[in-house]
Amino acid sequence: MEQQKFKRTTVTAALPYANGGVHIGHLAGVYVPADVYVRYLRLKGEDVIFIGGSDEHGVPITIRAKKEGITPQDVVDRYHAMIKKSFEDFGISFDVYSRTTSQVHSKLASDFFRKLYDDGKLVERETEQYYDEEAHQFLADRYIMGECPHCHNLHAYGDQCEQCGSDLSPMELINPHSTISGSKPVLRKTKNWYLPLNEYQSWLKEWILKDHQEWRPNVYGQCKSWLDMDLQPRAMTRDLDWGIPVPVPGAEGKVLYVWFDAPIGYISNTKELCDAQPERWGQWQQWWQDKDTRLIHFIGKDNIVFHCLIFPVMLKAHGGYILPDNVPANEFLNLENDKISTSRNWAVWLHEYLQDLPGKQDVLRYVLTANAPETKDNNFTWRDFQERNNSELVAIYGNFVNRALQLTKKYFDGVVPACGQLTDTDNAAIAEFEDVKAQVEQYLDGFKFREAQKEAMNLARIGNKYITECEPWKVWKTDPERVKTILYISLQLVANLSIAFEPFLPFSSKKLRSMINMPSCEWSQLGSTHLLEAGHRLAEPQLLFEKIEDDVIERQLQKLEDTKKANEAASYKAKEVKPTIDFADFEKLDIRVGHVKQCERVKKSNKLLKFTIDDGSGTDRIICSGIAKFYEPEQLVGKDILFIANLAPRKLMGIESQGMILSAENYDGDLSLTTITGSVKPGSQVG
Ligand code: MF3
Ligand code: ZN
Repeated sequence: MEQQKFKRTTVTAALPYANGGVHIGHLAGVYVPADVYVRYLRLKGEDVIFIGGSDEHGVPITIRAKKEGITPQDVVDRYHAMIKKSFEDFGISFDVYSRTTSQVHSKLASDFFRKLYDDGKLVERETEQYYDEEAHQFLADRYIMGECPHCHNLHAYGDQCEQCGSDLSPMELINPHSTISGSKPVLRKTKNWYLPLNEYQSWLKEWILKDHQEWRPNVYGQCKSWLDMDLQPRAMTRDLDWGIPVPVPGAEGKVLYVWFDAPIGYISNTKELCDAQPERWGQWQQWWQDKDTRLIHFIGKDNIVFHCLIFPVMLKAHGGYILPDNVPANEFLNLENDKISTSRNWAVWLHEYLQDLPGKQDVLRYVLTANAPETKDNNFTWRDFQERNNSELVAIYGNFVNRALQLTKKYFDGVVPACGQLTDTDNAAIAEFEDVKAQVEQYLDGFKFREAQKEAMNLARIGNKYITECEPWKVWKTDPERVKTILYISLQLVANLSIAFEPFLPFSSKKLRSMINMPSCEWSQLGSTHLLEAGHRLAEPQLLFEKIEDDVIERQLQKLEDTKKANEAASYKAKEVKPTIDFADFEKLDIRVGHVKQCERVKKSNKLLKFTIDDGSGTDRIICSGIAKFYEPEQLVGKDILFIANLAPRKLMGIESQGMILSAENYDGDLSLTTITGSVKPGSQVG
């Protein structure tokens, strides 16, 4: 089929920014699918290289460094190590995981730029940019804050207003100020080098819209909407002091744009690996410049424009490079119905997951693939996680394996029995699982990982059904010969499962293979009924997966609840104090203590409660108050409250309200009634 045209495959996974940890959104969107795909190709014996690394340049890293009072290098050192470890822990099997602050990368990115420059592929342009005269530097968009022209949020950034979500340019901000010195920035002329995307527009249209209609609809659609507009030249250099220096005259104080250097990181990391082990990996050029190599980029949807338009234009302008063959980008994963957010700490961090659920890497891999946001944004919930573990991994996969192994141990002392005459039931089961291979393959070749994993799970379903139908524990009493055949077939299915799940659940497959004494496996064996021959001795059975109890899940939910609370508390800002009044104004208010005699809901209103108050006058006073959402009326009877006695009466829902009961409004809008601590007679004045 199509792949046979290629001799080898280069697989890349987006280089994560080294300014934070890795969370389930990263894993689901990019790294698990990339890893599944690569493991699958390796198992097929194909020539494949899997490239990863940290993206260590860019403004967010410098901002983080400033905030913490450390250098950008300190920031990336810390997070590079942490990210690398998380990937290792979760079995993301990169052949190389390097970083864009490496020497090899600096040189390669710099040379790449220099070649474009020498060949006249870049356009030099002078523009006006904001400059901080106190800090003596040009300001990246993120370093400028001011008032949003749309919603008048006073704390909008130069590239975006987080309150109303508008994309901004720093020039649009009202009263801009520098976040470095606080001073008002001035416009200064500066020169930068641009990649003229406009000159490549018709080529891109041809290459993507015509020649790559097989790309995922979300990817193709995003490319099309870009290509339906006029592409603009895009600056490939920045006035910034963190990054790779621009290697041309007159570019002092400028660095390569992070989105210029980062994708070149894929190439540099390949080079680093090949140079270190040429006998294993050959020359780096064969992975990037040989027409027989297929290039696949795994990314999240926010990276599409960079991998489908900008990087290909860079490669094309440079010449000599192959272009991506496919870019299977995922949509986003939400967490408990809310957008994952690093700044709000709304995430499941990989290192924390492993502390709380040690050894359960595969459970997360399984759930993230089962819920992969392949065609639309998807949602991770802890309840679903528990459900998939308990009723799929444990109840289907684990259960089948355990039945087959325990029965073999019981009846045949853990030795694979010989297969006898096949019955119709046997043949039907074998026929069912023989084509699982073709199906899983078809899905994996098409980057449909959810479906592929479902098919693998189907194999376990087939096994469970088979063993349930055959009832070896009953047959044993009458026909022990028949049990041999049943268990022989069941054990072949078990061995097949260890292969089918190898790309998805590598830790569990390894464990399973050790239980059945099957040291290695290949994809081509999938579907075979001769994986474990009669007489082969199995090892001691163990549980492949364990049930996850409610309390474990509740702890995770509580953790998220705590995060929510902390965020609310942190976002609380007391309202500004109203304009000053004099004492005489204050004295006009007559605030008194009232005793609640009765309290009831006002019909047809979900807001109002009707209070009957003893105000000390001898006549009951009726006051309506809009706090019905926060109290049951019965709770309030007998309380001493504060009310304004001389407020002009108002009609509310047909009831005349004689005054106003005081309550405090929390920052989240909740109301709390004010009450009196001591015992005070109704009608007492407050002041
Ligand atoms: N650091 C980027 C992000 O997290 C991805 C960079 S991918 C590369 O969105 F191609 F630039 F390397
Ligand atoms: Zn705004």
